[in-house]
Amino acid sequence: MSKNFDVVVIGGGPGGYIAAIRAAQLGFNTACIDEWQNDKGGPAPGGTCTNVGCIPSKALLQSSEHFEHAAKHFGDHGISLENLQIDVAKMVGRKDSVVKQNNDGILYLFKKNKVTFFHGRGSFGKAVEGGYEISVAGKTAETLTAKNVIVATGSNARALPGVPFDEQKILSNDGALRIGATPKKLGVIGAGVIGLEMGSVWRRLGADVTILEGLPVFLGAADEQIAKEAHKAFTKQGLKIELGVKVNAISTEGEGVSIAYADAKGAERTLAVDKLIVSIGRVPNTIGLNPEAVGLQLDERGAIVVDAECRTNLPGVWAVGDVVRGPMLAHKAEEEGVAVAERIAGQHGHVNFDTIPWVIYTSPEIAWVGQTEQALKAAGRAYKAGTFPFLANGRARALGDTTGMVKFLADAQTDEILGVHIVGPMASELISEAVVAMEFKASAEDIARICHAHPSLSEATKEAALAVDKRTLNF
Ligand code: FAD
Ligand code: NAI
Repeated sequence: MSKNFDVVVIGGGPGGYIAAIRAAQLGFNTACIDEWQNDKGGPAPGGTCTNVGCIPSKALLQSSEHFEHAAKHFGDHGISLENLQIDVAKMVGRKDSVVKQNNDGILYLFKKNKVTFFHGRGSFGKAVEGGYEISVAGKTAETLTAKNVIVATGSNARALPGVPFDEQKILSNDGALRIGATPKKLGVIGAGVIGLEMGSVWRRLGADVTILEGLPVFLGAADEQIAKEAHKAFTKQGLKIELGVKVNAISTEGEGVSIAYADAKGAERTLAVDKLIVSIGRVPNTIGLNPEAVGLQLDERGAIVVDAECRTNLPGVWAVGDVVRGPMLAHKAEEEGVAVAERIAGQHGHVNFDTIPWVIYTSPEIAWVGQTEQALKAAGRAYKAGTFPFLANGRARALGDTTGMVKFLADAQTDEILGVHIVGPMASELISEAVVAMEFKASAEDIARICHAHPSLSEATKEAALAVDKRTLNF
């Protein structure tokens, strides 16, 4: 087997495995090294996203949503169920098999595209003539040489200072996806994406969930109007969200977990829970990469320093995904991976940071692309806004899911779409139309003039575009 490669990718998450496939498609002799192990010690490529992130969380969200529908909404359709139960072990087993299908799919794609896969930890050795030496420490040790290296080593959950994850009571995303029985009381620190998604899963299955958030505002990155609507919906569902808290101490003595915190008014409070998910953001991961060996530059947060095109300070070394600046999203990592492979081939890789969509897979889902209304106001940009509620959408009524709205923000003079924000059913799918529109620099009028199928949720998008000029037809 050749040990000399044109491209060696370290990390097999969405950034790394996609970069490796694209590099191989472009004719490079490519290797991908990934150290993730399944329960049997075998390879499990796909990174955080596949193993303990996007995929398993969506599997559990789906199962728990089915359960909640059966428990609370089937009756409206005339469907009655007796003795409804959830077998959490089976639900978690299904999630594991969905993960495995994805792991196997990536190994198949490597074979199909002739990417050589190494299972183990990759680390920098020394710079050599025309490239770098990369060691792989797995069941066997190997030394590879690479003309180009793409680092895609991802991120790890951030722990609260002095409160390490034990994955039994103090859970990172990993432990949160492995809970074997619905806890009576679940605490979550951080009302961000993971807190809301995982909090929703266990609330739907019957847990009493309290989320403690440090910031005084809810979902500060989202459009304020949309965040407000989402907050209202989550509170109505029974998620307890406390904003503006300061966590002072956490104790795991005794049976559960006790959290001492000051609430928004400064009053001292204690929350007792069976388990605590800590979801306060993630940190870039370069553990074991040995960046010092070659002088690879990191910033003060531990992220690999890259330019707008993912070039590091070293010739021929690139970095993509969660380990570099920018949003920690799988699709952002993938786009960077493709763009870097294409740049190595002398092509013009393209990532438009202004049109990266965000989705939170709660119910209602939250999705957005572009700028928020508060950001436009702060920038002093003249804009027009249009909203359309799902309550006035026929398909949403038929689905029985009328929470939320679509909101358009467009330039006051040119009508160019500046941002689209959705809270409501299938927001994750609906947002794609807005991404396409913004990528093509469309105006709100462009969307308003496109024929949308009836009855469909996407009609709410068209109507919100019409609302920009105050000419909705159905509201
Ligand atoms: P990773 O996916 O973290 O992959 C890095 C890989 O590199 C890992 O397999 C790791 O083991 C390996 N590695 C690290 N160091 C080495 C080394 N030295 N040698 C060999 N291998 C190494 N994003 C979305 O867009 N949508 C979602 O719905 C979504 N849901 C999420 C849910 C949760 C609970 C979490 C935690 C994250 C979620 N994310 C989601 C974020 C998403 O998972 C990340 O943005 C994405 O995985 C980043 O991809 P990456 O390739 O940069 O890194
Ligand atoms: P996050 O950044 O989304 O949210 C963290 C929250 O914790 C913030 O609201 C922050 O103010 C709060 N916080 C921080 N320190 C705190 C403290 N000491 N006490 C109380 N609150 C505190 O991070 P999260 O949820 O951990 O997710 C990490 C990343 O993973 C996300 O930013 C996102 O990039 C990715 N992800 C994406 C998903 C998606 O696309 N659907 C799903 C899950 C994760």
